Amino acid sequence: MVDNLINIGLLGCGTVGSGVVKIIKRNREEIERKAGSRLNIKKVLVRSLDKERPLELEGAELVTEVDKILEDPEIKIVIELIGDVERAREYMEKALRKGKFVVTANKDLMAQHGREIFKLARDMGVNVYYEASVGGGIPLIRPLKHSLAANRIMRIMGIINGTTNYILTQMTLQGRGYQEALEEAQEKGFAEQDPSSDVLGKDAAYKLAILASIAFDSTINMDSIYTEGITEVKIRDIRYAEELGYKLKLLAIGDRMEEGLALRVHPTLVPDKHPLAAVNDEFNAVFFEGDAVGEIMLYGRGAGEMPTGSAVVADVIEAVRSINHQVENGVMEVEFSQKPIMPLSRIHSKFYIRLKAIDEPGVFASLANIFSEEKVSLDMIIQKRRIEEMAEIVLVTHDIREENFFRSIERIKEIPSIREISQLLRVV
Ligand SMILES: NC(=O)c1ccc[n+]([C@@H]2O[C@H](COP(=O)([O-])OP(=O)(O)OC[C@H]3O[C@@H](n4cnc5c(N)ncnc54)[C@H](OP(=O)(O)O)[C@@H]3O)[C@@H](O)[C@H]2O)c1
Repeated sequence: MVDNLINIGLLGCGTVGSGVVKIIKRNREEIERKAGSRLNIKKVLVRSLDKERPLELEGAELVTEVDKILEDPEIKIVIELIGDVERAREYMEKALRKGKFVVTANKDLMAQHGREIFKLARDMGVNVYYEASVGGGIPLIRPLKHSLAANRIMRIMGIINGTTNYILTQMTLQGRGYQEALEEAQEKGFAEQDPSSDVLGKDAAYKLAILASIAFDSTINMDSIYTEGITEVKIRDIRYAEELGYKLKLLAIGDRMEEGLALRVHPTLVPDKHPLAAVNDEFNAVFFEGDAVGEIMLYGRGAGEMPTGSAVVADVIEAVRSINHQVENGVMEVEFSQKPIMPLSRIHSKFYIRLKAIDEPGVFASLANIFSEEKVSLDMIIQKRRIEEMAEIVLVTHDIREENFFRSIERIKEIPSIREISQLLRVV
């Protein structure tokens, strides 16, 4: 029997906010039964009251002043979906100070200021939920916090940015260049007009910071994540990768090692047989490796109105249960310590190198000599294109300590017949 009523204030009614309204309307009976309360979106904050909104708001009051929501004592849950960092932080902190539970999809904010926000929530005896901030509709945070809680998580590895995955898929399957694939992604709404956060790998780094903090019980500073985007990826590398049995993906990887955590986002060659190689278009997928459970993979839509709305509404249900004391309250993130970070130079990686050399005897011998001195062993070699007396050579190494690899690259650049190191990519 569902009797008490929980009032909600929605900050932002754009893509995700509309999804939230639609899902609550569509599945109201089930959602309220699961939550144990009736739900009422009482007020909705937007920038403009004049904007045409095809959405049926079921009696919710549209407001442009945030205090009409934050100062309303009847509102128990605030859903923050305006985006932005500073303004969202200000609104969220004020909501928490007023004793309201907060649900958000804001990865930039949670990755950069999560620690202060969690602390404030705990001090106020409320909670912050942020499942939608990583992987859109794919449950990642709750499985890590609850279902996998018995494990020591050793590795996170995944495709957590739909925009770049869409672009790389178009380049791979349709043979489009980077710019053309980006423009198509923008036309279809998979990339923003300013795509820099996505294509430079920053969006994936924010999400990795959030996942890694929970998986490895550690606060994570953004500058401890090595971040490389896809803007320098060439169709040529995608074709060579295919020939070698790989697909090119932007991966976010976090490893727990004895000496610390290694965190990075970079374009990566993934073996064709690996399940991540088959994750195409705007889809996302994340691998977790736990010491007890082994490997598990979660796959689905990492963005969009309804998938992201689905994660937000699930968090609202959790918040209502907490308000109704059906689940324990308390923000576990406050307990995290700060684990040491391993510099990338000390981890082991496998590399793909594409270079151009004058087509003359002795080039391979010089390369082999340097690699052998730096203890870099080679797994695969391709040499076939000859363009104006120039040979294009593609090499794939075995696993090698990154500092040795980069030292050998610096020495290779000094070989007179080597004209260009055209590409360096990591391989899993
Ligand atoms: N879109 C996705 O698929 C997705 C997926 C995962 C996470 N997220 C995150 O979810 C959040 C919302 O994204 P979205 O795509 O729904 O954004 P959006 O479509 O741009 O909508 C933003 C909404 O917030 C309102 N708003 C923005 N600034 C405001 C301000 N200063 N004062 C009052 N209202 C303001 C806008 O009002 P008007 O309607 O009047 O313009 C609009 O309703 C972001 O943090 C985003 O990173 C989005």
